[in-house]
Amino acid sequence: MANERERDAHSGTETTGHEWDGLKELDTPLPRWWLYIFYASIVASIVYWVLMPAWPLVNGYTHGILNQSDRRNVAVEVQALQTARTPMFERLATADVAAINADPQLQEFARAAGESVFGDYCRTCHGAGGVGAPGYPVLADDVWIWGGTMADIEHTIRVGIRSTHPETRMSAMPAFGRDGILTPAQVGDVSEYVISISAANSRLHADAAAAARGATVFQEQCAACHGATGAGDRAVGAPSLTDDVWLYGNSREEIRRQVELGRGGVMPTWEARFDPGTIRALAYYVHEMGGGEPDAPPAPAATQPTAADASVAPAQSTNAGGGATR
Ligand code: HEC
Ligand code: HEC
Repeated sequence: MANERERDAHSGTETTGHEWDGLKELDTPLPRWWLYIFYASIVASIVYWVLMPAWPLVNGYTHGILNQSDRRNVAVEVQALQTARTPMFERLATADVAAINADPQLQEFARAAGESVFGDYCRTCHGAGGVGAPGYPVLADDVWIWGGTMADIEHTIRVGIRSTHPETRMSAMPAFGRDGILTPAQVGDVSEYVISISAANSRLHADAAAAARGATVFQEQCAACHGATGAGDRAVGAPSLTDDVWLYGNSREEIRRQVELGRGGVMPTWEARFDPGTIRALAYYVHEMGGGEPDAPPAPAATQPTAADASVAPAQSTNAGGGATR
């Protein structure tokens, strides 16, 4: 092997000695600037290994002499944020709707906190923005099963519905069909009667003879909870049957199925999970979704059927001819 490598006559650069079909490979040196950056990177990486967490070890990693930790920094920031928010949550815990609305800063805080907690914990069942789903009531309308004042909503959130909380909101519509309390014929009749007294009659057209037979069954079996006129009773969470807003579905089959099965959906209790300020923020957020009622509750729906009808009118108008879920 020759010690002196051949120089290319044209460029003056050494060749590597490789040759293909008369073409020789030049051994062009790396540009200086590139080489310096390369060495500088090596030096920088060594400095980095010494200062910062870098190399994985069998049980852990090299911490570096600066002892830097993103995990710890985040924990410190979260702690600082919580400390900064605590006074706001404490103020919220004792503020009513009027007090929240009177203080733009508190209002903004309640809305933001409520929205974020709702997105994490409530949206799975009630839908984004409280639009509801079959079996899970719409929270953004002004039709309420258990009540729509801040106090009502907050109580529902606190104790839940048919939940594990000792004071849970509780009521159980019997499974009239499944448990044989009514015959299939009676279930059919009373379902027709329900349709006949509801706003759904305009699209489902109840069978008049069946509805007339069902009227008696209704007074005997249903009026205790749903009221003599079917206007509902918030005290026992019995929905109004006079509107055209349905929890489980707006078809004849779905209405009948509810009479057969008397389902009884479960809403968890949140009292143990959230502090009072967070629960107030949630209640405020739900209250502001569209259907919140003023603090002083209106006359009980069961004794004032016309008032109850009027209160559901806006929800129906947005569903003209359709029938909606609650
Ligand atoms: C596991 C599903 C589920 C989750 C999660 C859930 N809910 Fe509910 N919620 C329900 C059901 C079911 C009902 C209706 C129960 C009934 O009366 O038959 C309900 C009813 C309600 C009501 C009463 C509505 C009315 O018309 O009176 C409010 C208010 C409410 N939920 C708020 C919330 C909030 C706020 C959260 C989040 C902290 C939440 N829910 C999380 C299932 C859920
Ligand atoms: C012990 C109280 C109680 C009795 C008695 C009762 N219900 Fe109910 N009903 C409820 C409750 C509570 C609901 C709410 C739905 C749920 O969560 O199961 C309901 C829901 C309904 C619904 C669905 C309403 C909607 O908006 O989707 C219909 C229809 C209905 N009941 C019809 C009847 C009929 C017909 C009878 C009599 C044969 C009857 N109920 C007897 C408590 C009762």
